[in-house]
Amino acid sequence: LHEREDTRVSQLDWASGVMIVTKTKHNETNRWNPNAYNQHTAFVSELALPVVDLLAPQSDEVILDAGCGEGTLAVEIQRRGADVIGVDASAEMVAAARSIGIEAQVASVTDLPFTGQFDAVFSNAMLHWVQDAEGAIIQIARSLKPGGRFVAEFGGEGNAYHLVDAMKQVFDMHPEWGVFENPWYFPSTEEYSALLQSAGFSVDTIEQIPRPTPIDDIIHWLDVFTNGITKDLSPEQFTVFKQECREIARPKLYNEKDGWMVDYVRLRVKATKRIEYVQPKQSLA
Ligand code: BEZ
Repeated sequence: LHEREDTRVSQLDWASGVMIVTKTKHNETNRWNPNAYNQHTAFVSELALPVVDLLAPQSDEVILDAGCGEGTLAVEIQRRGADVIGVDASAEMVAAARSIGIEAQVASVTDLPFTGQFDAVFSNAMLHWVQDAEGAIIQIARSLKPGGRFVAEFGGEGNAYHLVDAMKQVFDMHPEWGVFENPWYFPSTEEYSALLQSAGFSVDTIEQIPRPTPIDDIIHWLDVFTNGITKDLSPEQFTVFKQECREIARPKLYNEKDGWMVDYVRLRVKATKRIEYVQPKQSLA
């Protein structure tokens, strides 16, 4: 199936073996090559199935998947009966989601083109990329109908601590590369609850979930996730960056029995947009 030109395969093979196979349209080949993302990070979608359970999609609902990526979880939400619209900041990801039948468009979660039209907003493994967390929450609130729910999972306080620390140490060892600026947002439950409440949500559940996650090799993880912080490095410097991160992180994140494990901590939240809440005009810019 992987080798056929007329199918697209999303393989959730890290635990359950679930595989979603979609036949592409007549002459459309599988041009989007998800090798870096899909091949090494299938666990991202696989481990999110409990978040879809928390979302509990209903058959008459319209749900926004904010940060839909290549659409794997949007397919799962549709499979459970709801209509889904996906948005992603990456045009390549949106194209991939469309190729498996998801209605998707390019948009940033801090600039959503929707007002009061969704029964629920869902987001997995995306919000830790958004430093303007308040802006994102305001946009999500505006996109929801009154009483609509927001269900998300992303990196929480202490997420990937040893990995991020290794990256920082490597940058410190090479001052000529510039200063390491952590681009990720990993809030505590208290901080995120406060943001949600001030944007008109009541928080139904919020929890931090330590989730050491097996990966095939930290080098592949760094290839996929560190584009932003390494964009000014030459290819040779990037190779050095990855090797040195690997050496530094190895005592913390690798053992013979389990192999590489990333020290993920997830923040999982379900919140409801208060029916009586009127969004302040100044926050709708
Ligand atoms: C994460 O998915 O938890 C993650 C992504 C990028 C950097 C660090 C953590």
